[in-house]
Formats: sequence, structure tokens, C-alpha cells
Amino acid sequence: MYSNWIMSTSRSPLFWSAIRSVPYWACCLMVILSACGSNDDDQPEAPIDRYVFRVPENFPEPTYTFDNNPVTKGGFELGKMLFYDPNISRDGSVSCNNCHIQATAFADSPVHPLSVGVENRLGIRNAPSLVNMAFFPEFFWDGGVTHLDFVPINAIEAEFEMDETVENVVAKLNATEKYKTKFREVFDIEEITLPYALHALSQFTCMMVSANSRYDRYIRGEGESLSALELEGRSLFQDKCASCHSGDLFTDFSYRNNGLDSTFADTGRNRITSLESDIGKFRVPSLRNVELTSPYMHSARFSTLEEVLDHYASGMVPSATIDEQFVGSESLGIPLDTDEKDAIIAFLYTLTDTEFLQDTLFFRN
Ligand code: HEC
Ligand code: HEC
Repeated sequence: MYSNWIMSTSRSPLFWSAIRSVPYWACCLMVILSACGSNDDDQPEAPIDRYVFRVPENFPEPTYTFDNNPVTKGGFELGKMLFYDPNISRDGSVSCNNCHIQATAFADSPVHPLSVGVENRLGIRNAPSLVNMAFFPEFFWDGGVTHLDFVPINAIEAEFEMDETVENVVAKLNATEKYKTKFREVFDIEEITLPYALHALSQFTCMMVSANSRYDRYIRGEGESLSALELEGRSLFQDKCASCHSGDLFTDFSYRNNGLDSTFADTGRNRITSLESDIGKFRVPSLRNVELTSPYMHSARFSTLEEVLDHYASGMVPSATIDEQFVGSESLGIPLDTDEKDAIIAFLYTLTDTEFLQDTLFFRN
């Protein structure tokens, strides 16, 4: 059912100390340039080990640089400790888990449409689901981070998230005996440094692979069947949605404007590229577990899938960068009647991966 993808070789700590002294963007670029994943398909099938990263049969190859950071049980467990630890934030009040909750596929809970950080400071965007990050080429709604290892730096330092410096985080870890012991066991280091902490966090997030929904089992021919309504929805989805929400990750990772606004307080992709042609464009989100990741869109403006479908059918507003797929001869959007909307929603529900959502592997210890 799964093909194994086993990792080798480590990046030396020297590499990391070198990149810490150059600007952040240069770091990202270096990592991308050196990130040609070495993928060894010839490895024999390993016995079922929950701590091995596996590529589901219906998924593409991962983008994460596992050759620099192979997943181990110890590294994963250390990443989990960090993920659930509020002491990482400035005032000890906010952990990664405050905004990324397993029951909602590691998106935020509907209670927080926009993310809420230290001192209840409000963020500007809806926290996305963290599933299948190992297959993503870029991160955030605007693609502002290009390597998974660097995402936590933003979370730690953003004043409306954890509002802490990475230097303080490292100092706090070094002052905590359980971390000293664990980092020594896992990475064989006496002094904890940022790159090792980031690697541990990535080991935890990379293992959040959601690929066992009813849809997956149907696609892989594992004895699952879809109802007539779900199949009708699938065929409509392929016709009308899969040009952007494509493949089994349900995104082509492009940045598009799907007609939410005419003017843009949050300019999206333009914040990264400064291109006028990118104003109002946001990354096409994956729709896995979308039944549970409400509210929807970067701005969290819709609370139900019905509202999302109403938007696509008849709610779009014009702007200079709206995707040309939505520009019809008479109106904007994708014409859909009520039955078609219902069928598409029924299909989207088949993307819910209950096994992942309840997987004890990710539970706080
Ligand atoms: C205060 C809420 C909050 C906290 C705390 C937080 N995040 Fe996030 N996270 C977000 C938001 C909001 C985004 C989307 C940011 C954007 O698009 O600008 C995000 C995005 C991400 C992404 C990229 C997802 C994607 O689809 O591109 C990853 C990975 C991630 N966070 C991991 C973490 C980790 C690891 C931690 C802990 C170190 C953490 N987050 C802490 C709110 C939070
Ligand atoms: C031209 C590309 C494109 C097409 C076609 C498209 N979408 Fe989207 N979709 C997007 C983008 C971009 C976003 C995110 C927009 C934002 O937040 O600003 C999005 C967001 C969504 C979301 C919200 C997901 C979340 O996590 O917030 C859902 C649900 C969705 N689309 C479903 C559909 C369905 C169903 C169809 C077909 C009827 C469809 N989309 C067609 C580009 C597209």
C-alpha cells in the first residue's frame, strides 16, 4: 500500500551556523538550491514502523529535504514536545497547538477564525491545516516561506503569535533539563542550537500525512466505494475545481485570486513578490479534511462549505487580478445549481481522514 522513502546522511551543524549569519531570505535560497532530494526507491520494504516517513501510493514525491533530517522516533517525539510546549512563547501562554489542533487537521479551531497569539493578539489570517506539509513546495497563504524548517521562526517571532526571539527560545531550551537530555539522546549534542530544534519540529510536522480518507481508499482500490452522489460530485469537481485544486493534494500550489474582494487590505502574494499582478492572489489551499477546517479562505470569511459554493457560483466580485477561469461572458464565477453544489460538498466530505484526526501518534504525551 505504501512505498518506502528512506533517508540518509546529515547536514553538519557547521552548515547551519554558517547560514544563521546570513540574511533570512538568503538562507531560504541556499536551502532550496541544495535541496535536490535524494530518493532511494531501491530500499526494501521495512516492517511497519510508525516512525518511518512513507509516501502514500497516490501522492507525489515529497519536497521536504529528508536527507538533511531523517525522521527518527526520538526526533519526532522531541518535535512533539516542542510543538505542545507553551514555554516557547514569550509569556509561556501559546504553543503551536494553540493555533494548530489535531481534531481540525491541525488547522485552527472555528473559535479562532483569525489566529490568536500572546495576550490574545489577533493575527491577520486563518491558520491553515498542517497536513501533508512534506509535499508542499512553499508555505503560508502567500508562499512567504520556502522551507518547512523555517516556518517556526516566523511563528516564534511574529508579535501577534509567540512574540519571542529565537535566541531566547534556545536559551530556555538549554535551561531545561528534560530538553538537554532529549537533545543529547537524539542528536548527540551538549549545547542545543536553533537548527536542531527546527529539525525536530519538522520531523513532527512532516509525519502529519493525511492519506487515508474514504476518497484515498477508493482511489487506491482498497475496497471502498463512493455513493452515486459522491461520484457525481467528484466528476463535477474534476470539471470545475480541479484546474486549481488539482491532484491528490488538491492544490497545484499556484497563487490565484478567486474573486473574494475588489480592494485588498491583505495583498497576498504581492507581499512577497511586490508585483502588481500578484495583488489579491493567495495560494490555492489543499482541500483535505476541508469538512473540519472551517472557517474558509485566508480571511476566514465563510463558515460553511455551502457559503463557499455560493461564492463560487454567484458571489464573486471583479478586480484586476481575478483568475481568468472565473470570467465568463455573462457573469463572474462557476455556474452551479443547488444539486450540483450538494454533490460537490458530498464529494468534499469523502476527503475527511478520521484515522489521521484520531491518530494517537500525534497526541500530546
Ligand atoms: C498564534 C497562532 C499560531 C501559532 C502559535 C503557530 N502558528 Fe503556524 N500558522 C499560523 C497562521 C495564521 C499561519 C498562516 C500564516 C500566513 O499565511 O501568513 C500558519 C502557518 C503555518 C505553517 C504553514 C502551513 C501552510 O499551509 O503553508 C506551518 C508548517 C506552521 N504554521 C507550523 C507552526 C509551528 C511548528 C508552530 C509552533 C512553533 C506554529 N505554527 C505556531 C498560526 C499560528
Ligand atoms: C482558479 C483557481 C480555483 C478554482 C477553479 C477553484 N478554486 Fe477554490 N480556491 C482557490 C483559491 C486561490 C483559494 C484561496 C483563496 C483565498 O483564501 O484568498 C480557494 C479556496 C477554496 C476553499 C477554502 C479552503 C480553505 O481551507 O479555506 C474551498 C473549500 C474551495 N476553494 C473549493 C473549491 C471548489 C469546490 C471549487 C470548484 C467549484 C473551486 N474551489 C474552484 C482557487 C480556485
